[in-house]
Amino acid sequence: MKTMIGEVSKHVGQEVVIGAWLANKRSSGKIAFMQLRDGSGFIQGVVVKAEVEEEVFQKAKSITQETSMYITGIVQEDSRSPFGYELLIKDIEVISESVDFPITPKEHGTEFLMDHRHLWLRSRRQHAVMKIRNEIIRATYEFFNENGFVKVDPPILTGSAPEGTTELFATKYFEEDAYLSQSGQLYMEAAAMALGKVFSFGPTFRAEKSKTRRHLIEFWMIEPEMAFYQFEDNLQVQEQYVSYIVQSVLKNCKLELERLGRDTTKLEKIQAPFPRISYDDAVKFLQEKGFDDIQWGDDFGAPHETAIAESYEKPVFITHYPTSLKPFYMQPAEDRDDVVLCADLIAPEGYGEIIGGSERIHDHELLKQRLEEHDLGSDAYKWYLELRQYGSVPHSGFGLGLERTVAWISGVEHVRETIPFPRLLNRLYP
Ligand code: 4AD
Ligand code: MG
Repeated sequence: MKTMIGEVSKHVGQEVVIGAWLANKRSSGKIAFMQLRDGSGFIQGVVVKAEVEEEVFQKAKSITQETSMYITGIVQEDSRSPFGYELLIKDIEVISESVDFPITPKEHGTEFLMDHRHLWLRSRRQHAVMKIRNEIIRATYEFFNENGFVKVDPPILTGSAPEGTTELFATKYFEEDAYLSQSGQLYMEAAAMALGKVFSFGPTFRAEKSKTRRHLIEFWMIEPEMAFYQFEDNLQVQEQYVSYIVQSVLKNCKLELERLGRDTTKLEKIQAPFPRISYDDAVKFLQEKGFDDIQWGDDFGAPHETAIAESYEKPVFITHYPTSLKPFYMQPAEDRDDVVLCADLIAPEGYGEIIGGSERIHDHELLKQRLEEHDLGSDAYKWYLELRQYGSVPHSGFGLGLERTVAWISGVEHVRETIPFPRLLNRLYP
């Protein structure tokens, strides 16, 4: 087995063989520096002309970007490298040559990079973002497993549309009409009645004609659902969960955050509890700030969310939205019927809504009425309504959009860089 770059710290002073690609190189008459990567990390290899066979030195000088190789060398500590180690190379065996790799160390346009996403993924920056994404997923499983949740997998092919019927991807299910899942929520509610506290993690699809830095057509969502949890309990799970993933990334992705130039002092402040503002107060706040376009009953757009978030260093919950703005399943507030027990969590620094969640209607008659009002009285929701007939209980849940969360924590501007192969309005390739 070859030694991985990520594990060279265990081999200081020893000769190792690594499998690697050439990320970059530079050389003078007497010394060649090779930036090597193998997926687990990046390390600088040094070839000293006087210490190797002439053929090895010539190879080091002529090898092209992304050529794959086996490298034999001695691991040395190096305080100048951010990684802490370098490799004194003794021998190079080329596995497969790479000719004219399209993504050179110079600047490239976004469309060009997106067309070459399958190769762009190899860059240091993309490597860092993918590692942070992975850490968020790892910490998600850890958090929910440690807090008594059971992972449940809702279906991808469904007959229902929890988040409204305008953004559905329709397909045929043999003779029937089916849709790609917009959200696993309705199924997670059924699962919570069986298993108490559950969470899902899976792809969701929205045929949204939005071309913004926050919208993907296919994105991944984490959807917890908890029996006997009410509005306030739900917010507490959210603030603890979001704090947990941010602190996990800070702890386990130091090199990656540094490579992305992320201001980590901002992330250090992300600790529960998070501030809350009601929709009513948010409208007043925006009007005072001079947003004349906002009246009570209007939905917030990205500039409004950003203006609200700018007042806080932590993510902020906007609570109690008007009933008319939200899906059919949300529980009305106790004291008034025109707002629901919901909250959107808005990330700091302009990253927008990362969570949507609510207490769910548990009364059979009220849910039946809401389904009819939304023209969802069909057989497709019969099973969902039936959940309220057999020991219905108050319950709550939420959905966290993974890509927006990765963008915020990584400090990456656009969600297209936070998923390996983004599906965007005009992009199904590669
Ligand atoms: O607010 P949304 O639509 O909520 C739901 O789907 C609920 N059924 C979730 C639940 O309660 N179980 O979506 C939840 C989150 C948003 O806050 C956002 O982070 C993300 O999913 N999201 C998107 N991310 C990228 N591209 C899109 N087009 C997104 N739409 C929503
Ligand atoms: Mg939402």
